[in-house]
Amino acid sequence: MTLCVFTNFGAIGFFMISGVLNRYKHVLPVTHDTPIFTLGEGDTPLVRSRGIAEKVGCVDLYFKVEGCNPTGSFKDRGMVVAVAKAIEKGMTSIACASTGNTSASAAAYGAYCGLRTTLIVPKGKVARGKLNQAVAYGAHIALINGNFDQALQLARELCDKHPIELVNSLNPNRIEGQKTAAFEIIDDLGTAPDELFIPVGNAGNITAYWKGFKEAYENKGAVGTPKMRGIQAIGSDPIVVDQVINEPETIASAIRIGNPASWESAIVSRDESEGSIQSVSDSEILEAYELLASSEGLFCEPASAASVAGLLRRFSEGENFEDKTIVCVLTGNGLKDPDIADGISPVSLEEYDAELESLEEAFAIS
Ligand code: F0G
Repeated sequence: MTLCVFTNFGAIGFFMISGVLNRYKHVLPVTHDTPIFTLGEGDTPLVRSRGIAEKVGCVDLYFKVEGCNPTGSFKDRGMVVAVAKAIEKGMTSIACASTGNTSASAAAYGAYCGLRTTLIVPKGKVARGKLNQAVAYGAHIALINGNFDQALQLARELCDKHPIELVNSLNPNRIEGQKTAAFEIIDDLGTAPDELFIPVGNAGNITAYWKGFKEAYENKGAVGTPKMRGIQAIGSDPIVVDQVINEPETIASAIRIGNPASWESAIVSRDESEGSIQSVSDSEILEAYELLASSEGLFCEPASAASVAGLLRRFSEGENFEDKTIVCVLTGNGLKDPDIADGISPVSLEEYDAELESLEEAFAIS
């Protein structure tokens, strides 16, 4: 359906009605004054596993492919709500700290809505594709000599002092938008999964999913709620070791965080759901990353593969997934981090003459 929508945001023209704000307005803090717009976020595929399902003996294994969002990560679900509410309040400027994806998303929605967007990111620690996105969207970018946790502290101070909306997941509207992924999973499966594996960095997303599953159970009559299986990377696993990590390290740069802002609500999600938060090594993450691409056709970024690494770890420790319905959240697209992708050993990547015979010979095709 095509409609012309008028809001206090002005006449924003003709567009296809879809997106998180429109589809979920009844369960979001959307009022008559909230501008409704979309870059096409949400409604991402729930892909049924073939290769990994067999490997872990689970018939009902699915991947929630959040890399299909417009900027290539789950952040867009929450960003559209945070930006809409900022505009509703009369703000003309937004800011965030980021390991990369939040900044790409803020920059995109900021560009669409004509807002001034300020990004504070740790220098040398953001995947190339994510920084390229933020630059292309025209954001003001500060590379700081410090880590994500320090960048977040700066962003909070900046927004406390000036009329700038903080669009990190500390902003409750981000959590509201991100909870919609849980609703989609329930709609697709017709029920809640038994377990949900999800990477944990700043811990906003595990908080959002748990909120969504609980609301669906309490208000929409969903059958049950899943055990939340939060997965951190060893070296950046403060919740697992129960201690702030001052210099977090992992190959999965998106979740390289030593002092998560939503630490407490991650613990609540874990405990209320009778789930767990555990960590996996970089080599387990890379193994899952390559396996997802080569056996499922799903190219995600390393942080996303942590969810599957967690599943593989629990299977290797003896957990039986035979009768369970499992969902692993793949939070971001693999194209964002080309430097890690460069490390994959290719099956074949040679030069050949542009002749059919040389190909037939090289690949033994007769
Ligand atoms: N996966 C990806 C691809 C991410 O970018 C992030 C977080 C997470 C998982 C973890 O989600 O923080 O809600 O626990 N990225 C943030 C950013 C920190 O700045 O882009 P979380």
